[in-house]
Amino acid sequence: MALRALVTGGAGFIGSHLVERLLAEGHQVIVVDNLSTGRRAYVPPDALFYPLDICSPQVAEVFQAHRPQVVFHLAAQASVVRSLEDPTEDARVNILGSLNLLRLCGRFGVERFIYSSTGGALYGEPQYLPVPETHPIIPLSPYGASKYAVEVYLPLFRALTGFTYTVLRYSNVYGPRQDPYGEAGVVAIFTRRMLDDAEVVIYGDGTQERDFVYVGDVVEANILALSQKTSAVYNIGTGRGTSVNALFERLARLIGYRRPPRYAPPRPGEVYRIWLDVGRAREGLGWTPRVDLEQGLALTVQAFRAQGVVPRS
Ligand SMILES: NC(=O)c1ccc[n+]([C@@H]2O[C@H](COP(=O)([O-])OP(=O)(O)OC[C@H]3O[C@@H](n4cnc5c(N)ncnc54)[C@H](O)[C@@H]3O)[C@@H](O)[C@H]2O)c1
Repeated sequence: MALRALVTGGAGFIGSHLVERLLAEGHQVIVVDNLSTGRRAYVPPDALFYPLDICSPQVAEVFQAHRPQVVFHLAAQASVVRSLEDPTEDARVNILGSLNLLRLCGRFGVERFIYSSTGGALYGEPQYLPVPETHPIIPLSPYGASKYAVEVYLPLFRALTGFTYTVLRYSNVYGPRQDPYGEAGVVAIFTRRMLDDAEVVIYGDGTQERDFVYVGDVVEANILALSQKTSAVYNIGTGRGTSVNALFERLARLIGYRRPPRYAPPRPGEVYRIWLDVGRAREGLGWTPRVDLEQGLALTVQAFRAQGVVPRS
């Protein structure tokens, strides 16, 4: 059945892939994005686009005009470093912006709310691995805290408004269109620098491990969440850790990059080793990651090569 779907952050990395997929499945898509990190060019022409801040009262007019049945909420201040520099702005976007949307969902009778949360930044340094959804929540950054705050509000709004929700806690997502100029998104940054034959910096000694999940798999989790009838929280990752040094080597091999990395001091707010237990998503969503790291990196390098040098936004 064709749905009216509102995608916040639909001009961003993950959001733009989701918008493409929703359109391909015949849904009507409305994008709200203030283009703070997203790009207008990433929004497909068949989607309706509103260049608005999610905190703006004008977002109500979008709900009024289009009456979305489902909201995919991806717009966020998504930088750990920026959240440490300006926790107030982080909370404004991630908490107050989300509350604005949740209230509008109640007012305009939205049926499903699908929230892009983080599995990498809310558990803190894992007490055990892989990390299940039941692991204690001890964020190391304001970003982790603000993303989680919305999860705390969700059951309350479900009770107040009657929508059902799915929380998807992603590990480190990578793939085509990820911003290579931000401070996060190590795959995009390394790929761009290697293709330009520029120096690659590794923060820390490179033994830190992350769970890298391909963007297409993340989109698939969102699509599966559409047909859920109840509310739930799922980790979305691969269940495997890869060290930053190993990632560097794999990408260098794929690209033919010959320089050694430069090591710099580790950055605050980041966990040392994490990978997610995705058993619950397998059982409850019927989701499993399909693109392995070798394949996903090859697809990413190919896309970055084809895209050429994109100017900084
Ligand atoms: N990329 C990852 O590894 C990862 C991991 C865990 C969770 N997430 C979550 O996934 C979501 C998408 O992340 P992404 O990697 O695609 O990042 P992104 O920065 O590419 O996308 C975020 C989008 O939101 C928009 N935006 C930011 N503030 C806004 C505001 N106030 N009003 C309207 N639009 C606004 C940006 O312009 C951008 O298009 C975020 O919620 C992020 O927290 C991402």
